[in-house]
Amino acid sequence: MYRIDIMTLFPDTVGAVLHESILGRAVKKELLELNCWQIRDYTENKQKQVDDYPYGGGWGCVMMAQPLKSCLEAVCAASGERRRRVIYLSPQGPTFTQETARRLQRDYDQLVLVCGHYEGVDERFIEQCVDEELSLGDFVLTGGEIAAMAVADAVCRLVPGVLADEQCYIGESHWDGLLEYPQYTRPETWEGRSVPEVLLQGDHQKVERWRRREQIARTMRKRPDMFEKLRLTEKEDLKLLEEVRKAQGRAQMTEPVTYRPATEEDLPALLRITAEAQALLKKRGVDQWQDGYPNAAAFRFDMERGESFVVLHGEEIAGFFTLSTREEASYASITDGKWSSDRPYCVLHRAAVAARWRGTGLADRLIACVEERARALGLGCIRTDTHRKNKAMQRLLREHGFRYRGNVAVRVGEGHDNARQAYEKLLKK
Ligand SMILES: C[S@@+](CC[C@H](N)C(=O)[O-])C[C@H]1O[C@@H](n2cnc3c(N)ncnc32)[C@H](O)[C@@H]1O
Repeated sequence: MYRIDIMTLFPDTVGAVLHESILGRAVKKELLELNCWQIRDYTENKQKQVDDYPYGGGWGCVMMAQPLKSCLEAVCAASGERRRRVIYLSPQGPTFTQETARRLQRDYDQLVLVCGHYEGVDERFIEQCVDEELSLGDFVLTGGEIAAMAVADAVCRLVPGVLADEQCYIGESHWDGLLEYPQYTRPETWEGRSVPEVLLQGDHQKVERWRRREQIARTMRKRPDMFEKLRLTEKEDLKLLEEVRKAQGRAQMTEPVTYRPATEEDLPALLRITAEAQALLKKRGVDQWQDGYPNAAAFRFDMERGESFVVLHGEEIAGFFTLSTREEASYASITDGKWSSDRPYCVLHRAAVAARWRGTGLADRLIACVEERARALGLGCIRTDTHRKNKAMQRLLREHGFRYRGNVAVRVGEGHDNARQAYEKLLKK
């Protein structure tokens, strides 16, 4: 059984904290033994004095070596032969890390944690009895208790059986030089912020990949000092790192994503985003939006009918879509398949995300806005179409539950490809 003995002037307080929750349960299950020792009980003077004035003068008092040594002897006598490590919690020690916690759990089965107070402890006790000093960080506490509790907690949760599974700590921040990925729980949308779509789809491989990329990205962003020391060697990690570096140049989603009807003032932003999308499609060899469509006239037509929407990240226009309740003539004749329902439907036309928001998850939010709007209209079916080479749009649609239904021919400028793949999503009631 892993054993921790804490030498302190406040054994009741420390004992009460450490016997709570997970560690308390582990003690009951006899996976751990946690003891707190009152240093004052080992004084050899009537007043039970544990400290005295410093030689050479100066402020405050210093804890005497004798009660500390006698207390330590009592701890050793009570615990017998063990792989024991005596640690003095001190602002002068190296900083305690997850790596230290792993070493202390792996290499020993007893820690004796000595808590100083006042101005610290007589140096001769440290020289004679202490195996190592550990600090909680570069600041000074009034006593070693908080530091001792932190060390005890971090080490004990690594003792087999204390947590439900070792997976609980493998993959956590600092285990392999990375921070943990972001975590979410219910509800799916909270104060306008939604859980990333990938976590809702049940594709474990995709979730794992997304989480690993988030680990790399947030270590890079939040802890450049850790990132500097990181040596990624796995092929998949290097690929993810490349993706993260590319994404760095892009915007970060930090504000709620909302949508509202587009107005004439939004037209310049709509046309700029359209031009960015046209350029991307051209670069990818997709003959879609290459005939000067959509143009200002098309957007104004949609606006007049209240069917054009801007998607906002905070105040910024990050994308747009048109959701029309008018029947789409070209959907009447579908080939190589059929629509799955004859419910009244709405049509998603003219959707795009600004270049600086690509790859940030904004497109997922855009689709969520489309669905919200369709629901608000009381329509349980959304239809749309895209070019067979527009793989990004096809992937986005599939990821959001749209299904390929067949092929349609749309109206396009002369000399352009008018064949489109038709997609449909039936919204849950
Ligand atoms: C006020 S501090 C003494 C600081 C000491 N005079 C110095 O300047 O190095 C009293 C006790 O708090 C504990 N302590 C203070 N800061 C700590 C830290 N950063 N990490 C661990 N223990 C700390 C130590 O046990 C120390 O003996």
